[in-house]
Parts: sequence; C-alpha cells; structure tokens
Amino acid sequence: MQIKNNQLYIGGVSADQIAQQFGTPVYVYDVGQIRSIISDMKEAFDAEKLNYQISYASKAFSTVAIYDVLKHEIIHCDAVSGGEIATIAKAGFPMKNVSFNGNNKSADELMMAIDYKIGTIIVDNFHELDLLNEILSERKISQNVLMRISPGISAHTHKFISTGQQDSKFGFDLASGQAKKAFDKIQASEYLNLLGLHAHIGSQIFESSGYSKLVDLLIKTASKWHFQAEIIDVGGGFGIKYTDADDPIPNAEFIHLICQTAKASSRKYHAKLPEIWVEPGRSIVGPAGYSLYTIGGRKDIPGIRSYLSVDGGMGDNIRPALYQAEYKAVLVDQVDLPSEQVVRIAGKYCESGDVLIQKQELPKTYPGDLLAVLATGAYGYSMASNYNRNPRPAVVFAEKGKAKLVVKRETYEDITHLDLNYEVEND
Ligand code: LLP
Repeated sequence: MQIKNNQLYIGGVSADQIAQQFGTPVYVYDVGQIRSIISDMKEAFDAEKLNYQISYASKAFSTVAIYDVLKHEIIHCDAVSGGEIATIAKAGFPMKNVSFNGNNKSADELMMAIDYKIGTIIVDNFHELDLLNEILSERKISQNVLMRISPGISAHTHKFISTGQQDSKFGFDLASGQAKKAFDKIQASEYLNLLGLHAHIGSQIFESSGYSKLVDLLIKTASKWHFQAEIIDVGGGFGIKYTDADDPIPNAEFIHLICQTAKASSRKYHAKLPEIWVEPGRSIVGPAGYSLYTIGGRKDIPGIRSYLSVDGGMGDNIRPALYQAEYKAVLVDQVDLPSEQVVRIAGKYCESGDVLIQKQELPKTYPGDLLAVLATGAYGYSMASNYNRNPRPAVVFAEKGKAKLVVKRETYEDITHLDLNYEVEND
C-alpha cells in the first residue's frame, strides 16, 4: 500500500482517481506487488538450489488478465474446473504448465483438459482414475498425473478451509490403505504416467509444522512404495495479513522449511530429492487486491453502535459472512488521519449478516467518501455472486502509474440475458 499526502495509491495510481474513472464498487490489483511476491518466492526457492515449481491456485482469482501476468512471470497454474481451464486457455497460457485438481472432475472436463494437452492431472479418487483411464485408452494417449493423498494432517485454520485431515472429501485416504491401492492401479495403467504425490492441508495457515510433517510423509510414503517420485506437490495455504492482529510467516520462510525438510527426508529415506511444487493462491494475489466502495447511509443506534453502509458487500466479498473473516479498511483520502469513531461497515445486501467489518476505526466520514477494504485480492472476485441481482464489480489492474480495466462491470443486461420467459399453462 502506498500513501502520499494521506491518499491511498495502488500501483502508482490514486485510488480516488480509479474510483472516479471506473466507478465503485471496484476491485483493484497492484500488479507490481503480485510480481514482487512471485519473484520473492522464486528467490527463496533459488536459494535452496533444487528443482521447484510455483503453481498458482486459480481458485483465488481467475481472470484472463491474471494469467497474462503469470505467463509473463513464467510460473505454472492450477485449475479446478472447466471454467478455469477455459479462462486459462483464453489467455493463451501454455497448457503444458497447467495442472488440474478437484474431487469430482466430470468426463467432459477431463476430455477438455486432455484436448488442451494440459500438463498434469491430479488424480483424486477411484471413480476419476477409472474414467481417466477409459478416456485415455480410447484415444490411445498417455497423460502425466500426480496422485492426491489425504494425508491425515490437520492445519490449524478455519474448519471450512482445512482439507488435509483424514475426514475430508479430497484425495486417496492414506491411513486405510486406499492410497496404496490407487498407486498400484495407476502404476498398472499403460496410459497414466505417475510423476509424483500431491497433498494440500488447508488454507490461511499460520504455522509451519503442518508442512514439514507433510513433506516428510509424502517422501516417506513414496519410499515405502519403492516409488521414485519426480515431484512432491505440497499444495497451497500460506497465510496472509488481513488485519493488524495477523502476523503471518513470510512466504520465503515456508518455502525454506519445505525445502529443508525435503532434503532431510530424502536423505533419511534414501530417496532422490524430488522436484518441489507449491500451489499458493491467496498469498500471491490476496495482499495485492483492494475493494473500493462509496459510503452511503449511516445509522446511529444510541448506546449501541453506528452502521456505515457501502455500495457493495457480501456479493463481492462473501468471506466475512462465510468464515467470519476479518478485514481492515481505510478512507481513501484520509489514510493516516487519526480515527474519531468506531463503526460497523455494512453492505447493501438484504441480509443482516451482510457486514464486511464488525468494528472499524475511522476518521469522520460523510456520504460519498471512498472506503478501501484491504487484502481482498483472493477469494473476493472469485467467490462473488449476483445475490439480490446486483451486478458484479469491475476489476482494474494498476501498475507503474497506469490503471487498466481487465474485467468489465456487469450490467443489468448481463444479469438478465440468460433468463427466459415462462408462459403459464392455461387452466
Ligand atoms: N491447492 C489446493 C489443492 C487447494 O485446495 C487450495 C485451496 C489451494 C491450492 C490454494 O490455497 P491458498 O494458497 O489460496 O490458501 N475460499 C476460501 C479458501 C478455500 C481454499 C480451498 N483450497 C477462503 O476464502 O478463505
């Protein structure tokens, strides 16, 4: 976040100017920040002197423009649906650098991925294994795959975004022996070329021990199966700072720990050091994204609290309602001014739970003031909805003093154009 004369600047452009030009609510990304997060991650890996791959988890924010940036930064990306694959393809992203995750990929999605010559499919379950085998054997082509394991490791995070525990819908269960059965089946297939093992333990993770347990477990498992894994993919999950109370571990520290554990465990289990893959989503785009809103009405309830309403809310950021996620906001034109009030920031949606921030200190505000909610770059736009038939906001990328529209604001025409009339049957 850049501040000049108490004004918020994003990518060298004043947030005020962006709001005037593109309207509100609007998502704004600081492209330079995304690029420097990626280059810091690369630097951390380079220092470890091993083979690695950073595969951006598209689910955090999937638009053609973000893939243009990732293409430029030469990293991989991971998709979890036909829609994400279509978006990646539209950007002209090299499909060999794409992996495909998910616990219920349809036959159509698998065929789409194969037609696009996607780099890696991350096989999640027996149904998919059979389906994929069938499709590939009909076409007589082989496919590189990783195998997703449910490792029985819990990351300490919100239960909705914790995925590595044994009771999870994702991956082959390790403890019960299902993973070994799946491994044997994959190895027996002449069309599946198993490159390695994959697991993901959760998201918004603030402590590192889960990753070291996971890396050790994956390398140990491969060695137990007498499998020379070329790749170990440890998923995403690096936590980010949303509010002043958050104190996340720097990405470079997570990476260092993952690599050090991989080296130590490879020695311990007499295995060749595999290529290390990570799949961060939130930590790449989260901190670089801002949501700009215009403040509207205010309701003061004497002795209780004040509500300040903005022109967006749970339709463009469902995370507070869904996960009790906390955010921090600033007044775009008075970032550093002392606070004079504590308010609740409410959205415009017809639902009491549509509160973006429970308690926010702010200077004095007036209707028409601009508010920026910070660190909304991950799982904001990507989880946006048309609830209450509100059009979704535009997305703007700002870099080196220039702001560019990368997703247009939805119109009422966009909202209604798939609707068809229904003629009631005569009695
Ligand atoms: N890889 C796999 C297999 C995943 O399931 C996920 C996230 C990631 C990578 C990326 O995780 P990240 O680095 O972004 O933490 N909607 C929730 C987050 C759900 C994450 C699901 N999986 C939220 O808004 O917090």
